[in-house]
Amino acid sequence: MPLDFALIAHQESWKAAADVLSVLRGPGLPPILDLDLRELFAWIPPRTVCRVELTSSLGHSVQGVYIDAFIPPDRLGYEFRQENIARVRAAAAYAIKEGAKIVSLGGFSSILIEGDSALLPDAGDTVFTTGNTLTVSLIVQGILAMCAAQGRELREATLLIVGASGDVGSGCARCLAPLVKRVVLNARALDRLNTLAGELRSGGAEVEVSVDLQQLSNQADIVICVASLESPSLLLKQLRPNAIVCDAGYPKNLSPAAGDEDCTLFFGGLGQVTGGMRFEPDVHRVLHHHPFPNIAQGCMLEGMVLALEGRFEPFSHGRGFITPERVHEMGAIAARHGVQLAPFHNANGAVQEALHTTQEQTR
Ligand SMILES: NC(=O)c1ccc[n+]([C@@H]2O[C@H](COP(=O)([O-])OP(=O)(O)OC[C@H]3O[C@@H](n4cnc5c(N)ncnc54)[C@H](OP(=O)(O)O)[C@@H]3O)[C@@H](O)[C@H]2O)c1
Repeated sequence: MPLDFALIAHQESWKAAADVLSVLRGPGLPPILDLDLRELFAWIPPRTVCRVELTSSLGHSVQGVYIDAFIPPDRLGYEFRQENIARVRAAAAYAIKEGAKIVSLGGFSSILIEGDSALLPDAGDTVFTTGNTLTVSLIVQGILAMCAAQGRELREATLLIVGASGDVGSGCARCLAPLVKRVVLNARALDRLNTLAGELRSGGAEVEVSVDLQQLSNQADIVICVASLESPSLLLKQLRPNAIVCDAGYPKNLSPAAGDEDCTLFFGGLGQVTGGMRFEPDVHRVLHHHPFPNIAQGCMLEGMVLALEGRFEPFSHGRGFITPERVHEMGAIAARHGVQLAPFHNANGAVQEALHTTQEQTR
C-alpha cells in the first residue's frame, strides 16, 4: 500500500546513532562497541527505522516511514559533501520505492542538495519538501510567545540572526524584520547578507550586516541561531543581560561550553502534535530527546501536516523563497491539524521556570 509520507533523517550525535542502530538490531543484544559503530555506520545503506502514524486533531491519521540516511555525525563537513549527497539520493530512492507520496528532507539532507529536488532520483508521483517553511513558522511563533511571556516589547528589540542568509534564516528575517526595531544579519559570506539586507531595507526595516558575530552580539535583545554548523560550536560572547536566544540548528548551533550567560535559551523550530504520534516499533524516545511528548522538528512535521491536509506538493523547495505569506499559510495548516509550538525547553529541560522567574521580575 502506498505510504502517505516519508521522513529522511540523520543523527546529530554518536549516542543517537548508537540508539538507532540498537533499534535496528532488535532487543536483547549487547550494545555495539563505539569503535565498531563508527566503522560500521558509514557502510549501512539508508533504510526504514520505524513506521510512523500521525493523527490530526480533526480525527484522521496518516501513515509513513522514518528513513535514516546514515550520515556519520562527525562527517557533516564540506569535505564529505559528495558522499553525503550520495546518501541523501539513496535515501530518496528508498522513499520513492516505498511509494511515499510526500517526503520531508530533515536537517542536512535538504542543505546538501540546497533544497533542489532535481538533484534527487526521478521521483514519479513522489514529491519532496525541505520542511523549512514550517520550521520558520515555529521559530517565529516561539520568539513571539517568549517575548509576550516575558513582557518584552518587540518594537524596541534588536534581533540578531546567525545564519541569516540561509533558507531558514532569511525566512525568519522576512517575518520578523517588520516587527522589531533593528535587525542584525550574520553569516560568513557578505554578498548574500547584503542582498537580503537590501530587500529588507526596501521594506522599511533598519538592518545591519556583519560577518563578525562578536562585534554586534552585545547589541542584541533576541538571537536566532540557524547556521548550518556540523557540530554545536557557536560561542556568543557579551550578550545583553536577559537576552532571548533561540537555537534552532540541527545539529544545535550553540556550544555546550557557551556557559551560563544571563539569557533565556530555548530550542526552536519544534512542534508538538496534540492529536498524537505513534511509532512502530516504539522508538520515539530514541529519535527525539525532548522533555515533552510528541515533539518533532518543523522540517519533519511539514511533510506530515501536508499529508494530513491532502496537499501532496513541494511546499518548500530551493533556497531563499520563504515569504511571510507562505509561513502564515503553513502555520495555519499545521494549527488546523493540532500541530502547535512545542513547550519551551533546552538541554537542561523545560524553561518554564525561567519564564516564571522573569515574569515575576518584570511585574
Ligand atoms: N529545527 C528544525 O526543525 C530545523 C529545520 C530545518 C533546518 N534546521 C537547521 O537550521 C539550520 C539552517 O538550515 P538552512 O536550511 O537554512 O541552511 P542553509 O540554507 O544552508 O543556510 C545556512 C546558513 O548558515 C550560514 N553559516 C554556515 N556556517 C556558518 C558559520 N560558521 N557562522 C555563521 N554562519 C554560518 C550560511 O551562510 P555562510 O555560508 O555565508 O556562512 C547560511 O546563512 C541547520 O542547522 C539546519 O539543520 C532545523
